[in-house]
Amino acid sequence: MDGMTPRTLACLWLTLLFTLPAQASSQLALDKGCYSCHGEPPRRNAPGMAQLAADYARYRGQADAPQRLAEKLREGGLFAHIAAHERLSQEECITLMRWIIEGAK
Ligand code: HEC
Repeated sequence: MDGMTPRTLACLWLTLLFTLPAQASSQLALDKGCYSCHGEPPRRNAPGMAQLAADYARYRGQADAPQRLAEKLREGGLFAHIAAHERLSQEECITLMRWIIEGAK
């Protein structure tokens, strides 16, 4: 094939490298039922996933942000105890926080 220069291949490889982890995380969000409240339209007082990503974009580049946010989310607020948040393992939650910070795609 003419189009398959080494450069095209390198491009494809890079695309795969960057999209696979993101897809795994969105699958995790699906599996954990995040979209049942943070979907479009979001349920009751829950922000939509795009809204969350827009809020969390300000944490980009802060290495410890996913961990801090994960701890906060799993603890639950004073009034909002959300089982779907508290059931996450610390690792799952960090993965999801990192994914949301990067745009929740
Ligand atoms: C039962 C509904 C429900 C489900 C399911 C749910 N959430 Fe939430 N979530 C909420 C509500 C309501 C808020 C806003 C109140 C709050 O901050 O506690 C919220 C807030 C958040 C926030 C913002 C916290 C902050 O203030 O910084 C994040 C991030 C979040 N959810 C992520 C998730 C993820 C990831 C999942 C899937 C594991 C999930 N949520 C599942 C209802 C839900």
